[in-house]
Amino acid sequence: VFLGIDIGTSGTKTLAIKEDGTILASATAEYPLSSPHPGWSEQDPEDWWTASAETVRNVLAAGNISPADVKGIGLSGQMHGSVFLDADGKVIRPALLWNDQRTVAECEEIESRAGGRTALIEMVANPALTGFTAPKILWLRNHEPHHYEKLRKVLLPKDYVRYRLTGEFASEVSDASGTLLLDVRRRQWSQELLTRLEIDPAFLPEVYESEEVSGKLHAAASAALGLPEGVPVVGGGGDQAASAIGNGIVSRGVISATMGTSGVVFAHSDEVQIDAAGRIHTFCHAVHDKWHVMGCVLSAGGSLQWYRNQFALAEVAAAKGMGVDPYELLTAEAGQAPAGSEGLFFLPYLTGERTPHADPHARGTWVGMSLRHQKAHFVRSVMEGATFAMRDCLELIREMNIPIEQIRVSGGGARSKFWRQLQADVYGQNVVTINAEEGPAFGVALLAAAGTGAYSDVVEACEATIRVETETETDAPAKASYNRAYPIYQKLYQSLKSDYK
Ligand code: XUL
Repeated sequence: VFLGIDIGTSGTKTLAIKEDGTILASATAEYPLSSPHPGWSEQDPEDWWTASAETVRNVLAAGNISPADVKGIGLSGQMHGSVFLDADGKVIRPALLWNDQRTVAECEEIESRAGGRTALIEMVANPALTGFTAPKILWLRNHEPHHYEKLRKVLLPKDYVRYRLTGEFASEVSDASGTLLLDVRRRQWSQELLTRLEIDPAFLPEVYESEEVSGKLHAAASAALGLPEGVPVVGGGGDQAASAIGNGIVSRGVISATMGTSGVVFAHSDEVQIDAAGRIHTFCHAVHDKWHVMGCVLSAGGSLQWYRNQFALAEVAAAKGMGVDPYELLTAEAGQAPAGSEGLFFLPYLTGERTPHADPHARGTWVGMSLRHQKAHFVRSVMEGATFAMRDCLELIREMNIPIEQIRVSGGGARSKFWRQLQADVYGQNVVTINAEEGPAFGVALLAAAGTGAYSDVVEACEATIRVETETETDAPAKASYNRAYPIYQKLYQSLKSDYK
């Protein structure tokens, strides 16, 4: 039995699987997120630890699993967060999370200390974004010097849980890539950037490959979890790389497009490939000596959720009466409008956009309304706009000469046949779904299986456990109509961007 623990933003999910990938049990525990000022987003690391211990105990009970059968643990979690520890390993202040926006000035400071944006991308493969970890360290130094004085270690969220499990300060390459301090090409901390930023290298944990054993369960943790001492804990992965492992994205040509609240397009890459303009993230993959590129759409499913909450209260009430999911009624309504929504466009930048614009000021926009347009067109245009934003990510991947041979869709956007069809038509390529829908926790449970010897590596673990289940073929007329609409969609942001500020 292998456990995967995913420390998410709304809660922690722990999953127990057998070596062949069969799910034995899963458990979740939620915790709050606090925003003490606009744009701030923080959590108490103690909550992650409590939730991890609780969900492990619950999984053992729910799956009737004998603790002695647990052979390995993998950790995954929200990326980019900063846990600040003092000399005694105690948390100094609440952690700043991936969606925290307070570090605009520190991002500028990093670019300037690095010798410009191009030089920075050359060192760490990515530009400075407010959510990343390095600007958070600088923010602590600039704004809370009394805390910075006490600082001895900076850990990512899942790596703090690892510290509580094993007593080791350790990370792994995929999550470390999102700190902006990793030399992604060499898979080690960038001494050059650390020097330029005047950050003590001793603040950072040791970096492992994702399937390597990083430590063993120590006595205190073993009592809290109800597991024997000495269970190996492997590196694991940041939630996106872990989720990609769970989707079997471990070879060139296989891409995932996941639409939850946000949307992520993820491609495996055999070599390190960097977009000089920094429009797409290049991180180490959780596969040994491989990389990935990843585009992130901030409001994908989130756009439809917003539409539902603001404009579809009647449908929500009707759905409740009928005992169905409101999204079923919304997609049925969208199906009454033709592909392209008769010229109605929606830009899904409700919370700004990451890929490809890296523009926190961008805003959601409807363009092209006429008397002909009905509600069906509006809901369809929202789904189309979110899907065009995903296509923007795919186009960047294509531009980098990474072949797109198979697109695996998952998340809310893959649940309905209608949205799968819309994705195939907008992407201009068939899309498939796979058997596993357990996300990052499943991916790191597979890493634990591979890292403790059940498989020769994680690629073999994926091949043994993951298979394609459905395939949705493109519809030629709809595809042609989206091919005509897409360049107009792209042009709209360019025409509007200076007015968003
Ligand atoms: C990835 C990212 C999010 C967080 C939270 O770059 O910001 O996926 O990891 O889930």
